[in-house]
Amino acid sequence: MRAIVSQAPNEAAILTEIDPPRLDTDGEVLIQVTHSSVNYKDGSTVLGRPGFVRSWPLTLGIDIVGTVTESNSAAFSPGDHVTLNGAGAGETRSGGYAEYATAPAAALVKVPDSLTSAQAAAFGTAGFTAALAVLAIEDHGLQPGDGDILVTGAAGGVGSLAIALLARRGYTVTGSTGRIAEAQDYLTALGAAQVIDRQTLSEPTKAPLQEQRWAGVVDGVGSHTLANSLAQTRYGGIAVAYGLAQGPDLPSTVLPFILRAVTLRGANSVYAPLPLRQRAWELLDTELDLNSLDLMSSSISMAEVLELAPRILAGEIRGRTIVDVTR
Ligand SMILES: NC(=O)c1ccc[n+]([C@@H]2O[C@H](COP(=O)([O-])OP(=O)(O)OC[C@H]3O[C@@H](n4cnc5c(N)ncnc54)[C@H](OP(=O)(O)O)[C@@H]3O)[C@@H](O)[C@H]2O)c1
Repeated sequence: MRAIVSQAPNEAAILTEIDPPRLDTDGEVLIQVTHSSVNYKDGSTVLGRPGFVRSWPLTLGIDIVGTVTESNSAAFSPGDHVTLNGAGAGETRSGGYAEYATAPAAALVKVPDSLTSAQAAAFGTAGFTAALAVLAIEDHGLQPGDGDILVTGAAGGVGSLAIALLARRGYTVTGSTGRIAEAQDYLTALGAAQVIDRQTLSEPTKAPLQEQRWAGVVDGVGSHTLANSLAQTRYGGIAVAYGLAQGPDLPSTVLPFILRAVTLRGANSVYAPLPLRQRAWELLDTELDLNSLDLMSSSISMAEVLELAPRILAGEIRGRTIVDVTR
């Protein structure tokens, strides 16, 4: 079968022919893959950046969408339409950039009947992560009407989906982006009430406590951006950190926490337990407007993944990129 494979540490991946995988572990499922997607992490693994892939050679692609062909698990049968987001795919076990993949039943989710395979891939890890962030905001008790929610990295994959989900839930959303001229109309169409320039957040923090602007924050950027966002979060508000597009550091102080009772919470898609995965997918199924999903999605072939990898790391890709594994 055709697959995008990382062959050795620190080497860029190649598109090549390999033998299809076989089921060899209890609780595993064999999937004929039709679609995957390109996430920031996929850009890193395709280019051979260290810290993600743990064994070689390995098929990459952290999202898998397809149809079950064989199953060692009572929970899945041949013909089931399934998806896997993270859970080690493309990092510690073979991923979705191949015509077949195995997956652990413990992390596999059935694709809702209302979605095509391409739409499920457009959600992918990005949608799943955005849904986890929205659930964290809601579990914190924030209601629409409590105040504005800031979404950083707004035009990226997770950012676009977070804006669409939050707006659909009734929240007033501000998107922060580095490409305001190009993305303003796009972000407004997804549901952002306001779009701000990310430079207002990305410089070193001038004061650990600033004007209280945000009831909640969904941050994919980290570093100074998260530090400034925390400094602008209102009393009792919450910031959900899921990414590090600016950097993994957090040059902040404890003041937002001890003087404004701000909560900083993480969201992680890789190790999320099955009940949380199912909750997130229910949210995506019920709340995401498919017109918004189409607006933010484009589709590429397997060979094009190799060309796109450096561009997603450079922050040049808008919204979501679906990979048609059959092309
Ligand atoms: N915790 C998890 O489980 C999880 C899951 C998925 C992704 N992530 C992480 O989340 C982040 C975003 O992932 P993604 O797949 O959505 O990537 P993406 O589509 O490339 O989006 C990232 C966005 O961040 C902004 N950005 C890029 N470089 C920046 C910089 N130097 N300073 C400030 N903003 C910058 C850009 O938005 P604008 O152009 O709008 O400014 C870019 O579109 C990555 O760090 C990824 O590793 C984590």
